[in-house]
Amino acid sequence: MQLVTEDNITELAKKRWGTAGDPRTRELITGLVQHLHDFARETRLTEAEWMAAIQWLTRTGQISDEKREEFILASDVLGLSMLVVQMNHRFDPAATPATVLGPFHIEGSPELAYGADMSEGLPGVPLFVTGTVRGLDGSAVPGAVLDVWQADEDGAYEAQLAVDEARLRAKYTAREDGTYCVRTIAPKGYSIPMDGPVGDLIRQTEISHFRPAHVHFLLNVPGFQPLITHLFEEGAEFLDSDVVFGTKQELVVGYQHHEPGPTPDGGTIDQPWVSAHYDFVLQPV
Ligand code: BEZ
Ligand code: FE
Repeated sequence: MQLVTEDNITELAKKRWGTAGDPRTRELITGLVQHLHDFARETRLTEAEWMAAIQWLTRTGQISDEKREEFILASDVLGLSMLVVQMNHRFDPAATPATVLGPFHIEGSPELAYGADMSEGLPGVPLFVTGTVRGLDGSAVPGAVLDVWQADEDGAYEAQLAVDEARLRAKYTAREDGTYCVRTIAPKGYSIPMDGPVGDLIRQTEISHFRPAHVHFLLNVPGFQPLITHLFEEGAEFLDSDVVFGTKQELVVGYQHHEPGPTPDGGTIDQPWVSAHYDFVLQPV
């Protein structure tokens, strides 16, 4: 008979889970058991507290579906997503740094031409983002696909709305000389979803639940490490308090303000607009 005590239960549980066939699974699960037991001991966890935590996890699962990713949000606000990003993308300091994916990326965005408008029909200040996709050696990367998405003026992503057309998301292909041109609207800072279990926890703290204005980019180019990142607006509110720890100085870009007139895609515009310039530098595999 196996006699279980407060002192031997951790070793017994690790031994049991140490039978996992795959070595990495074994390492992850036995490590998790050790840290969970240490956490319970160090915090003198009560049964009522553990039940409250389980109920919080249950609500997190129940509110989640293919559009509402409350577990990703929880990981983001705890700083765990950004830690895992940083550990796994230790790029050259000259390369564009990675940041969090977030819960609102949607696969299969429409392909738009150089300078085509991914914000068609939506209110906002027109924004052109231009630049070149390069390798670390400075050479242009032709044909790189930039998967771009962002929130609207009210801070809402398509995934949060009942819409059946792509909204504020598109794929742009860099030209032969590596240049790209995205047309959209200037993003605004926004609150993360606060109507679920993550919001319930945040309200118990002094944490600001806002993200600074940003546009998301995903570049998956053969021969280079995949890059998931954002560009933030210089001077934007919440840059110093991003609730998901996603900001990096290298990703902050200045906006130029323009009067109506010619635009970078060779067209013209009849209202004031802004532009940002950024060269993405990819880390080779
Ligand atoms: C986002 O930028 O879309 C985002 C990232 C993490 C949590 C919530 C939103
Ligand atoms: Fe975002």
